[in-house]
Amino acid sequence: MHTSIEKDNFWKTSKRPLVMLAPMEDVTDTAFRELILHNTTAGNLDVVFTEFASTDGLCHPEGRKSVAQRLVISKTERQLLNEKGVKIVAQIWGNNPEKFFEATKYIKENYDFDGIDINMGCPVRNVVSHGSCSALIDNESLAAEIIQATREATCLPVSVKTRLGLKKVDTERWMNFLLRQPVEGIILHGRIQKQMSEGEANWNEIAKASAIRDVIAPTVPIIGNGDIVSFEDAHERPKRYNTDGVMIGRGIFKNPWMFESSLTEISIEKRFETLLKHLHLYESAWGNSRPFPVLKRFFKIYISDFKGAAEIRKGLMESNSFEEARQVIKNIS
Ligand SMILES: Cc1cc2nc3c(=O)[nH]c(=O)nc-3n(C[C@H](O)[C@H](O)[C@H](O)COP(=O)(O)O)c2cc1C
Repeated sequence: MHTSIEKDNFWKTSKRPLVMLAPMEDVTDTAFRELILHNTTAGNLDVVFTEFASTDGLCHPEGRKSVAQRLVISKTERQLLNEKGVKIVAQIWGNNPEKFFEATKYIKENYDFDGIDINMGCPVRNVVSHGSCSALIDNESLAAEIIQATREATCLPVSVKTRLGLKKVDTERWMNFLLRQPVEGIILHGRIQKQMSEGEANWNEIAKASAIRDVIAPTVPIIGNGDIVSFEDAHERPKRYNTDGVMIGRGIFKNPWMFESSLTEISIEKRFETLLKHLHLYESAWGNSRPFPVLKRFFKIYISDFKGAAEIRKGLMESNSFEEARQVIKNIS
């Protein structure tokens, strides 16, 4: 099993820092990832992730239909991934090792991913109360079984995305445990579950995790996550905090063009072009099978920072279909 993991294991690359785009529900579907890939200069982005997909859902013939949307990689996204040398990882979550085994096998047999990531970080109450995601931080035996079951189902590298602790900062205990598990990489969000997304990410604790890693598992890359807002910041933090790379989440909302080297200024034309492209990609990928209002978050991002933006944004926020949104844009040009 190890030989095949070594062959295609992007975690073992010597490139540093590794720059990753975070898994984000209702954000990082195939349409948004493709949009970002269009706006990426090769070498600036290394890994993208799917939205988190439920292992319960993937193991259930009916549930699978909707959960599997989260694992779609469109043909055109695949081409861009190949062209730009970007890897793609499926993220899964749940609380039952057998389902992790089955879901991972299903993914291996039906999709073309470069890695599997186990979500041990989502803080949302109803998943945590069922023992999933960040609840696993306080359940070492179940976390170990889940990692083992996932490993047994695939030759792909397996990583864990997690937090500093559940109710309190617990970096030392949790990293001492996790770094002894058969994982290829760890992505560490510098907050605890209780914080949700509040407060500042604690990068000193991320540095502490890297120091523990240096002693007990020097070959396991640690990727820091939390509050990275620019490409420069993405390159600065690994040096300051001794990580192998960074994962960028909400920073992409501030600047969805951050991976494009040649872009020094974001013109109004570029903003509209991006919005229209996103509408097109989302409609091609999903038609009406995913809700249109999910796109409204992006209208605010693209249509901002220029005179008259507020008025146009208002029109877009009131639109209820692809056609209505396009009409708002037509009316101003
Ligand atoms: C809208 C949204 C959806 C998210 N969905 C997921 C998810 O599906 N899986 C996951 O591991 N983390 C998810 N996260 C957490 C992010 O991946 C990331 O860990 C967090 O936002 C901290 O990074 P940041 O400060 O750079 O945003 C989500 C975050 C946001 C804002």
